[in-house]
Amino acid sequence: MTAPEFITRKEQGLPISMITCYDSWSAAIIAETGLDCILVGDSASMVMHGYESTINATIEMMAPLTAAVRRGAPDAFIIGDMPFLSNRVSLDIVLENVRQLMQAGANAVKLEGARGNLKTIAHIVDSGVPVMGHLGLTPQSVNQLGGYKVQGKEDQTRFMIKEEALQLEKAGCFAIVMECIPGSLAKEISGSLSIPVIGIGAGNGVDGQVLVLQDMLGMNTGKDPKFVRRYLEGANLIREALDQYHQDVIARTFPSRKESYK
Ligand code: KIV
Repeated sequence: MTAPEFITRKEQGLPISMITCYDSWSAAIIAETGLDCILVGDSASMVMHGYESTINATIEMMAPLTAAVRRGAPDAFIIGDMPFLSNRVSLDIVLENVRQLMQAGANAVKLEGARGNLKTIAHIVDSGVPVMGHLGLTPQSVNQLGGYKVQGKEDQTRFMIKEEALQLEKAGCFAIVMECIPGSLAKEISGSLSIPVIGIGAGNGVDGQVLVLQDMLGMNTGKDPKFVRRYLEGANLIREALDQYHQDVIARTFPSRKESYK
């Protein structure tokens, strides 16, 4: 996959599959699948570091994770997430942040929101770095949005999200993630753009889908968002395996003779 291929895929009507990943061993498994691309999302702040939101993600957190994913998946198309406010500084510092993600192994960067970002996006694109946009529920703005809520339910916000999608395309984005918006709006936006819309909680009328790896593997013990489909009950399987190991140790059935050196 390459950035221009995202647009070709849309022209051909071929959906794009994207998954988040933050570590080397998961990346190596993903690399053996047909998945099209990997997002080293700032959701790492919550999934890997246990923070309440993505506001705690920093470039210092994201760059080593991106490098780990690149080591696990040497040939994958990797998108590195620009963390909280890392794109809301002077252009020189923005480029320094982009440099860190790209030199860690990203092929492109993703940044949230359109308002106040259009010149920055154009500058990053003009500097030779593909940019993926992100609209709808933009988790870095959770405090302004008043929670993790579906966006674009009212006429005014529907209109605004659509306008912002057109602006992101014009600024040079090669694709846009649309998070938690009504399926009808996502479909309408996808139909008005020549770049692909990758949905998460945005229905089935878009050009691709992204899920958080740990969500779709059922690693969460809490309640999943409505849009998550679990493809595995990972937490249960891992718990069972760990309990079995514990039982084997206390019963002295592990290690066996075969598992020991003579
Ligand atoms: O950080 C992330 O994982 C994301 C996806 C939810 C799209 O931005």
